[in-house]
Amino acid sequence: MKNKLSFLNTTAIFTAIYVLLVSLIQIYEYHYFNDFFKVSLLLLFFILLYQLSKIKKSLSAKSEIQEELLVKTNELEDLISSFDKHVIFSKTDLNGEITHVSQAFCDVSGYEAHELIGKPHNIVRHPDMTKESFQDLWETIKLGLTWYGEVKNRKKNGDSYWGFSKIIPEYNSENEHIGYYAIRQNITAQKEVEELKNELKNMNIHLEEQVNEKIIEVINLNKEIKDTQKEVVFTMGAIGERRSKETGNHVKRVAEYSKLLALNYGLNKDDAELLKQASPMHDIGKVGIPDAILNKPGIFDDAEKEIMNTHSRLGYDMLKHSDRPLLKIAATIAHEHHEKWDGTGYPNQLKGEDIHIYGRITALADVFDALGSDRIYKKAWEIDSILTFFKEQRSKHFDPKLVDIFFENLSDFLEIRDQHVDNL
Ligand SMILES: [Fe+2]
Ligand SMILES: [Fe+2]
Repeated sequence: MKNKLSFLNTTAIFTAIYVLLVSLIQIYEYHYFNDFFKVSLLLLFFILLYQLSKIKKSLSAKSEIQEELLVKTNELEDLISSFDKHVIFSKTDLNGEITHVSQAFCDVSGYEAHELIGKPHNIVRHPDMTKESFQDLWETIKLGLTWYGEVKNRKKNGDSYWGFSKIIPEYNSENEHIGYYAIRQNITAQKEVEELKNELKNMNIHLEEQVNEKIIEVINLNKEIKDTQKEVVFTMGAIGERRSKETGNHVKRVAEYSKLLALNYGLNKDDAELLKQASPMHDIGKVGIPDAILNKPGIFDDAEKEIMNTHSRLGYDMLKHSDRPLLKIAATIAHEHHEKWDGTGYPNQLKGEDIHIYGRITALADVFDALGSDRIYKKAWEIDSILTFFKEQRSKHFDPKLVDIFFENLSDFLEIRDQHVDNL
């Protein structure tokens, strides 16, 4: 349509010029002017003017279009340049050989374009990416579909970089499959953070395992130390008792009676257990008493009795230097197990609750067991005599509250006695 109009315009201009020339020739040759001729001449002049203005307009519009085209071309070139600089882009043919790479691809991989063009695309494949990991990629793109996924690549210098890749099949104008486009987003920083996080997580797990192992080791060691301590304390107590020809079961029974009294008195389980472990040491001081006195059959004279009574202080002196809770308790028990509630005991004639509860408890437990057992200087008492003695000694030798507990739980005491009978 535009071409047709242009043709008509051109024809009109030439017609006008032709008529004008013919008219001028007639004027020149015949000097002939009539009105009709004058009007025609004027009309033709205006047609000519009109067509000339249209041509001018058309030329101006053409110039504007050319300018706009130039601007758009520049913009497109900027866009292509920016794409080339910032988009990690490549093209490969059907054999997997690189046919085009963007500048951004070169920048991230460290290769020059000429080092990549014509090379198989696996030139940038990282060894961490196994062939199996590309299986899904190939299966997808062979079907003519677009594949998305994270791919670890290798730079020219051996370092790695990660890309979130989009791989698209490329077709020519005849719709023939001729290769692939690949566009990648550089996600190296994100993957490095992920890798660091995983590394940190694994380190934490490892550290936690090590700490747990050490904790178990410390717990076992602690248990071992405690067990050894208990065994040593018990053995020391047994040594003291053996020197005075008493049986090992005496200290076992005293330990159990002491714990029973402590729990019923209101001490907590831990304190009752400590008392049970420490009470076998009550007579450890006897290791310092001469055999002639310690094993004398019969009654001691005053001098012998005085020496014998030193065993409580001797025991205290042996144990008092330790900072271990168990040995500190054992020292107190050794010191105070012969004190009496009414203040007539030894070595310090302590009275009432001035005597440590461990001392008061062990005193009752020790006497109960001693009266019921054969000793070198006496025969075992019958249970009725023992009970009568305890009733009499309530608030004299023994703490009245402990005597009451003893009678309230007599069956438990007798059960302990029967479980640890002396085999003489
Ligand atoms: Fe004693
Ligand atoms: Fe004893």
